Amino acid sequence: MYTHNLTLIYGTAWKKERTKELVIQAIKAGFKGIDTACQPKHYNEAGVGEALAAMAQEGFRREDIFLQTKFTPLAGQDPLNVPYAKKADLSTQVAESFEVSKENLQTDYIDSLLLHSPLSSFKDLETVWRAMEEIAQRGEVKQLGISNIYDLHTLQDLYKMAKIKPSVVQNRFYAGSGYDKEIRHFCKTHNIIYQSFWTLTANPHILQSTELVELSKKYNKNVIQLFFAYLHQTGITPLTGTTNIEHMQSDLESFDIVLDDSEILNLHSLFE
Ligand SMILES: NC(=O)c1ccc[n+]([C@@H]2O[C@H](COP(=O)([O-])OP(=O)(O)OC[C@H]3O[C@@H](n4cnc5c(N)ncnc54)[C@H](OP(=O)(O)O)[C@@H]3O)[C@@H](O)[C@H]2O)c1
Repeated sequence: MYTHNLTLIYGTAWKKERTKELVIQAIKAGFKGIDTACQPKHYNEAGVGEALAAMAQEGFRREDIFLQTKFTPLAGQDPLNVPYAKKADLSTQVAESFEVSKENLQTDYIDSLLLHSPLSSFKDLETVWRAMEEIAQRGEVKQLGISNIYDLHTLQDLYKMAKIKPSVVQNRFYAGSGYDKEIRHFCKTHNIIYQSFWTLTANPHILQSTELVELSKKYNKNVIQLFFAYLHQTGITPLTGTTNIEHMQSDLESFDIVLDDSEILNLHSLFE
């Protein structure tokens, strides 16, 4: 199975015409993983491809970057800007979206292809997953995953149905879902990497907590670095979409902090 040991992934949503420049900055700062989507409403996937092409000119090798993109079902697309034939059947939509992603990203393979969100019926979810499996079986994608899956039973059913099992769950990490405790347990026991988004924006109360503030003084690091270090030690891979070069650098410097067991346990209590 294809695995990776990323501590932090650079997210490229909402960066529009700044995408190329920011992805170049992120790679130069040291990010090894890039997340995008074939969803023009929120992502400039071609801008990521332009950044990778520019980095290749400077000697960066494609295989040194973990590149993740998504198939976004019609419900998540801007109806006026859908990157595949809207009226095509679901399998064709997946195939067309993937071809667009390869062209946008100027690559002949993707490391990780995610289904952006479950479909309204399990039958449709299965159709889409089979189409994604076909791409993986051809070797053009190294692993598959799913995003915005907050129902444990759907994840379990997907896992059972899949010939190629999901390797990634990418979800909002927030109080509204109870921080996905059951989903994360399932991921941990089934070799699925849990990637978090909304990690900072949904959790100002965590960043202001006495527990994190005290640890930040002890380790002489900022609270965001402490939070990322904690998530890493808990088995979560956060995404960050920062547009600030200093934040990129300081976020990447989170992972030399090693919290001890009692500190980890104490922080767990913030998510009860
Ligand atoms: N699968 C999905 O449906 C989905 C949905 C949403 C997002 N995502 C993915 O997740 C990525 C991250 O999105 P997000 O919603 O978690 O939010 P985000 O885009 O990472 O936003 C983080 C916010 O925190 C601020 N910030 C302050 N200090 C920071 C620091 N040290 N490090 C990082 N940020 C800092 C940032 O401002 P500065 O720019 O000034 O640093 C920014 O406003 C997206 O780009 C996308 O790839 C996926």
